[in-house]
Amino acid sequence: SLRHFIDLWRLTPADLRAILDEAHRRKAARQGRPKGFVDNDAPARDRVLAMVFEKNSTRTRFSFDAAMRQLGGASIIATAADMQLGRGETIEDTARVLSRMVDAVMIRANRHDDVERFAAASSVPVINGLTDKSHPCQILADLLTVEERKGPVEGKTIAWIGDGNNVCASFIHAAPLFGFDLRIACPGAYHPDLYDLARGADRVSLVDGPTEAVRGADVVVTDTWVSMGDTDYEARLEAFEAYAVDERLMENAPDAVFLHCLPAHRGEEVSDAVLDGPQSAVWDEAENRIHAQKAVLAWCFGAL
Ligand code: CP
Ligand code: NVA
Repeated sequence: SLRHFIDLWRLTPADLRAILDEAHRRKAARQGRPKGFVDNDAPARDRVLAMVFEKNSTRTRFSFDAAMRQLGGASIIATAADMQLGRGETIEDTARVLSRMVDAVMIRANRHDDVERFAAASSVPVINGLTDKSHPCQILADLLTVEERKGPVEGKTIAWIGDGNNVCASFIHAAPLFGFDLRIACPGAYHPDLYDLARGADRVSLVDGPTEAVRGADVVVTDTWVSMGDTDYEARLEAFEAYAVDERLMENAPDAVFLHCLPAHRGEEVSDAVLDGPQSAVWDEAENRIHAQKAVLAWCFGAL
């Protein structure tokens, strides 16, 4: 069957571990090379990736494009608004047509269900480049960053502070599969989905507040309080006021690495001092999107 990469929980722990190891290996193998240097084995030679964006993107767009070049392939990028998709052509018909023209499709969609529908009608692998429900590519880049700074993620403790959103959901999915503990501090109204929490099983706990979550943690991670598609901006700013990651909070986790998928809203969920400070690994994290996604693409193309 097709190797879709839609949610982490659909993959086996062995496949996920192999993807992360491949990301480490590929990153190490090209240290110092120009960004366009093609890896010697070029596992995406003769392959084309289509990217479809229903929402804005900087990192996902540029990292997938760079990743395809480095793997020896090519990519084609369009926003849904530019496509007939934006004029009512169905998801399924779009999937059938793109399947005849490219070897894999990455899609960033407003509704998670649309990615599932796309995959069901596609005859090539489909990659989730973020939906309202999850962001699996991001978590592979994050775990790559954690392992660079802290060694194997298995047995580590990660603290998630703030909104129980799409990125949080993918962290929850990852916890039992990679064997780390996830402590979530989140205001009641913005808790993660119960289905996601069930997938996290005993690796995931909801704790009482940010201080309890970060104490003794190896990693502290947060994300915007207002995701793409959220409309209740004022209510959110109020609900999350006590969840800002600042220097005072980080004093409780002096050895922790700080992560943020970016874009950051400086002065809201994270202070300048933390984002630009010695514990922050956010620029490595952004770069690691390329390395992690090369491993995902290699897996989708059956080269792993
Ligand atoms: N972190 C992330 O996915 O960034 P973009 O929205 O810029 O792709
Ligand atoms: N949670 C954010 C992540 C952006 C990369 C959003 O969905 O907007």
